[in-house]
Formats: sequence, structure tokens, C-alpha cells
Amino acid sequence: MIKIAPSILSADFLRLGEELKTVEEAEYVHFDVMDGVFVPNISFGLPILEQVRKATDKFLDVHLMITQPQKYVERFCAAGADMVVFHLEAAEPEDIHAAIDAVKTCGKKVGLALKPKTPAGSLAEYLNDLDMVLVMTVEPGFGGQRFMADMMPKVKAVREMIDRSGRECDLEVDGGVNIETAKTAVLNGANVLVAGSSIFKAADRKNYITCLRG
Ligand code: DX5
Ligand code: ZN
Repeated sequence: MIKIAPSILSADFLRLGEELKTVEEAEYVHFDVMDGVFVPNISFGLPILEQVRKATDKFLDVHLMITQPQKYVERFCAAGADMVVFHLEAAEPEDIHAAIDAVKTCGKKVGLALKPKTPAGSLAEYLNDLDMVLVMTVEPGFGGQRFMADMMPKVKAVREMIDRSGRECDLEVDGGVNIETAKTAVLNGANVLVAGSSIFKAADRKNYITCLRG
């Protein structure tokens, strides 16, 4: 089943509660945390996540674009994340393993994200511990960028790695997803689609989410 994760980075923050209601058709809510170091932008963090948690029962997919995720993952779990996803490039392998273990100890789902230049092969040592892999289809940091179709061989390669492992593991794409690019991503093996600007710009968000699912 294809799951849709609207990214509230593109929502109207002054009306976030109402904005969340307009995307209830979706399975997840995607929450983008940026620290101004790992990516050249700053978004929002723990106090806003706590508020979002109070406002919705949806599955909260928290995407950390921060350095040293091992220092913060437990606090994001406590603030209401259902799944915490951080970047493979954001710390040394031993700290990435520690962050994965910390999320699992909190009883939450865990995922690893790959920037466009990071090859699928670098996932190998982590894959058996993951609930989700996130392949970025833009350089992380900003909403509203163009989908990188040249990431599709990587999406396909990750799908093959997951299938070979025989484990249940989702494959999410994030960046530039709209009705056209969603089809391409799904064809290559993605089953969770993040979409920010395309959903929040749509006149009928509910219908747009249904169309994204294909
Ligand atoms: C980008 C974020 C995305 C962003 C996607 O760094 O990780 O989740 O909100 O926005 P769109 O769908 O507009 O590309
Ligand atoms: Zn994201």
C-alpha cells in the first residue's frame, strides 16, 4: 500500500492545527527538523512537535536534518514522534548505530535517510535494524525544489536490498513529489511518498492526496 506523508514545512504555521485537519486523508504527517548546520536552513523543533502531537493522532514521521542525531533522538521520541528518521551522513557509524538503538529502546520506529550523493551501498551495515529507508530526491534543506529523477536507480537498488533482506522495511522518497513524479517513484519501488508544496498548494488537498496514492 502506498502511504502519503504531507510535509508541514509547507503549511501555514500560524494555523497549524487547521492545516493538519486538511491533510487527514493522508496516512502520515512528515515533520522536518533542520539545524542550520547539517543543512543550510533552520525550521522547527521539539516544542512545535509537542504541539503537533496534541493536535493529531496521525503517525508522526520525524525527519531530522541535524548533526549528531544520537544526542537528540530520545527527546524527539518523548515529544511525540512515532518514527524518527535521521541522516546516515550526520554522524560516525558508531553514533548512527547508537541512535538507532536509542529510538528502538524508546519503542518507536526508526529510519535512515540518504542525501542524493550517498550511495545505496552505504546502508548495508544498518539495513537489518531499520523500519524505513528515506531516499532524498532533492538536496535536503528546502521545500519546493525539483524532483531528481536521477535518484531512481538508487531507489530501485534500495528496494532490491530490502526485498533481498526479506524484512518489512518501508522505502520513502522526499523532495519534489507531485502527481507525475509520484508515479515514477512508485514504479521504482517507493511505498511512502513525502509531499510538501504540491499538497499544500492544491485547491483540494484531500483529492490531491488520493491522486498521489495512484
Ligand atoms: C526538504 C524536506 C522535505 C520538504 C519537501 O529538505 O526534507 O520534506 O518539505 O518539500 P517539497 O515536497 O515541496 O519538495
Ligand atoms: Zn523531509
